[in-house]
Amino acid sequence: MTSHRFSHTGPLKGTIRVPGDKSISHRALMFAGLAVGQSRITGLLEGEDVLATAAAMRQLGAQIERDPEGAWTVYGAGVGSLLEPKSALDMGNSGTSTRLLMGLVASHAITATFTGDASLSGRPMKRVIDPLSMMGASIEASAGGTLPLMLRGASPAVPITYHLPVASAQVKSAVLLAGLNTPGITRVIEPVPTRDHTERMLTGFGARLEVGEENGTRIIAIRGEADLRPMDVTVPGDPSSAAFFMVAATLVPGSDLTILNVGLNPTRAGLLAVLRQMGADIAEVNPREVGGEPVADLRVRHAPLSGVDVDPALAPSMIDEFPVLFVAAALASGTTRTTGLEELRVKESDRLATMASALQLAGTRVEEHEDGLTIHGTGGEPLTGTREGTSVATRLDHRIAMSMAVAGLVSRTGVSVDDTAPINTSFPTFMGMLDEAAG
Ligand code: S3P
Repeated sequence: MTSHRFSHTGPLKGTIRVPGDKSISHRALMFAGLAVGQSRITGLLEGEDVLATAAAMRQLGAQIERDPEGAWTVYGAGVGSLLEPKSALDMGNSGTSTRLLMGLVASHAITATFTGDASLSGRPMKRVIDPLSMMGASIEASAGGTLPLMLRGASPAVPITYHLPVASAQVKSAVLLAGLNTPGITRVIEPVPTRDHTERMLTGFGARLEVGEENGTRIIAIRGEADLRPMDVTVPGDPSSAAFFMVAATLVPGSDLTILNVGLNPTRAGLLAVLRQMGADIAEVNPREVGGEPVADLRVRHAPLSGVDVDPALAPSMIDEFPVLFVAAALASGTTRTTGLEELRVKESDRLATMASALQLAGTRVEEHEDGLTIHGTGGEPLTGTREGTSVATRLDHRIAMSMAVAGLVSRTGVSVDDTAPINTSFPTFMGMLDEAAG
């Protein structure tokens, strides 16, 4: 464990560029790994989670290389031609790698064992085991439907129409990816829209995928067996990584920070809407498209915030941003109430419990409910910070570590975080970038 104390800082200034989007990076490696021929990926996030996907795709037969300039070249194995891995697929901390790769393996005639760290091994996999079993895969999981698990794929698999019982892009993607090598049409019915990177990128790789809408319900249909053609992918910056700097620059007086190349896919942009509703001053500059995704530079200037009731319908579009939103709320004037966030309890940590304890330790008045937090803000006054000898528990959760780092910047005595190592899963350059912006 690597502990660190994050302290009061001056304004955040200048221009930064956050690393590539994690969700898009995973998908780029997987889909390129299924296309026959050579794809090139630039802007790939080189965090531990994405490297776990790269290693697993190699074990499944794709050739993946990184050139010295940081571009990645992938020679795919082809849909239907994945190889049986010789050893277990180590998914580390990454739920996205696990669930999406389970989908891929499910419709191939191979068997794979999935393992992960203590955080991932406590997370629910039944949500993917259920639909993949319906498609014919046979899965032996640990008690409670968790990792380690062994998945024996079915070939041919059976197409299904699956109503998503939880709003989860990972479950949606697992079923669609299984559908790639399944003869016929596999459908996913999504009552609440979740991030649509799979749909966008699979279409780019040549999959026959149709998205329909009926009364706000999305129906995604994919036709197998698919042939994917290679393509070049440019990965936009990750809005979930930009989020820490959006909140930090908003909270620290005198800040004026530009964050370049931030992905603003509407299924990911909920935090921007909520921060603006609270009074944040964030301008979108030079809107454009990168890799089939909307992108802009964000100019963030300090602004006082007011508490709000966050519309639970926005949750899927900012699902990973709640920890840092809670920090923004802790400095706002008045009360912020969040509801409908049961899913936060099954992320890398139980993010409602972990953030409630962390913010309390740093001097915030917080009430924890079954499905959300109520936070009473200071009205812009710094938090007290954690007492000498105490530190907040990050519970192997990168986003808790980075959120509490932001809290430290706006605290009197600083905030000690017990372990910053998990930050490497999604944002290995975070500490350096924070020093640079706040320097
Ligand atoms: C992701 C989907 C979300 C998100 C995760 C990445 C993805 O998870 O929290 O960080 O890339 O599809 P759920 O599908 O569990 O909501």
